[in-house]
Amino acid sequence: MSIAVSGPIVLVGAGNMGGAMLGGWIKSGVSGGDVLVIDPGPAPAMQKLLADKGVAHATAVPDGVKAGVIFLAVKPQVMEAVLPPLKGLVGPDTVIVSVAAGKTLGFIEGHLGEAAVVRAMPNTPAMIGRGVTGAFANTRVTEKQRALVHDLLKVSGAVEWVASEADIDTVTAVSGSGPAYVFYLVECMAEAGRKLGLEADLAMRLARETVAGAGELLHQSPDEAARLRQNVTSPGGTTAAALAILMAEDGMQPLFDKAIAAARKRAEELAA
Ligand SMILES: NC(=O)c1ccc[n+]([C@@H]2O[C@H](COP(=O)([O-])OP(=O)(O)OC[C@H]3O[C@@H](n4cnc5c(N)ncnc54)[C@H](OP(=O)(O)O)[C@@H]3O)[C@@H](O)[C@H]2O)c1
Repeated sequence: MSIAVSGPIVLVGAGNMGGAMLGGWIKSGVSGGDVLVIDPGPAPAMQKLLADKGVAHATAVPDGVKAGVIFLAVKPQVMEAVLPPLKGLVGPDTVIVSVAAGKTLGFIEGHLGEAAVVRAMPNTPAMIGRGVTGAFANTRVTEKQRALVHDLLKVSGAVEWVASEADIDTVTAVSGSGPAYVFYLVECMAEAGRKLGLEADLAMRLARETVAGAGELLHQSPDEAARLRQNVTSPGGTTAAALAILMAEDGMQPLFDKAIAAARKRAEELAA
């Protein structure tokens, strides 16, 4: 895949998420010369990448540049200070993409004016190109800009466009925070194995590789999760005995309903 850009991609914030995106863009064929990074102090590994790939770097917003894309990857708490000086980069064809959790389209438009803005919520597997991102575009984003943003986001994994901005809060609760639920599942499985007599490290290795392998199988298989579950569940067998507990009325589903609703409520509060 190669990404065609008509103006510079200005990446604001080259930390974990911004750095992962930039690495993906370069791998996907974006020329380093088409990117400008604004960050007051990139980490040494990032400085090396910028130098090696010929990516321009500035510590402050330059004058006289109109961006094709402004990609905002700074922490939400600095957005208030970061946005106002960026207004000069916004031209009639600029599209702005923000991955800052909880910062609404209204907040961004409030600072940058009537611009084309996409709000996106990636998750941490983006760091290895295996994330999933939920995205919502305001009405000023053209089909062409949307396709460009889709390609830029796709370097970090799957991209799903949602129907309303409110859905971004649910995306945050399901997939944004989701990796932590899966990591906790590993902890719970390992702890249960330890309690039944396995050495703690061994129990952890078994749980970790089980979740990682099951995730990979899910990724590679065309089958739905329910089908993959049924495939390993023989009637009257060991898996069926465990699932009778996990799928009981007071099992995992009501727990996940409650947990994900709590995450969504928190996302709404942070965006308010
Ligand atoms: N990490 C994730 O999995 C994830 C998932 C979903 C959404 N996000 C969103 O992604 C955004 C970035 O998160 P992150 O984990 O990548 O944070 P991060 O590693 O701290 O990266 C932010 C970068 O922005 C730089 N920065 C600080 N002030 C700046 C300024 N005024 N102008 C330009 N750059 C500035 C930081 O430099 P210093 O280090 O010197 O301060 C740092 O290099 C957040 O808004 C977060 O909500 C992240």
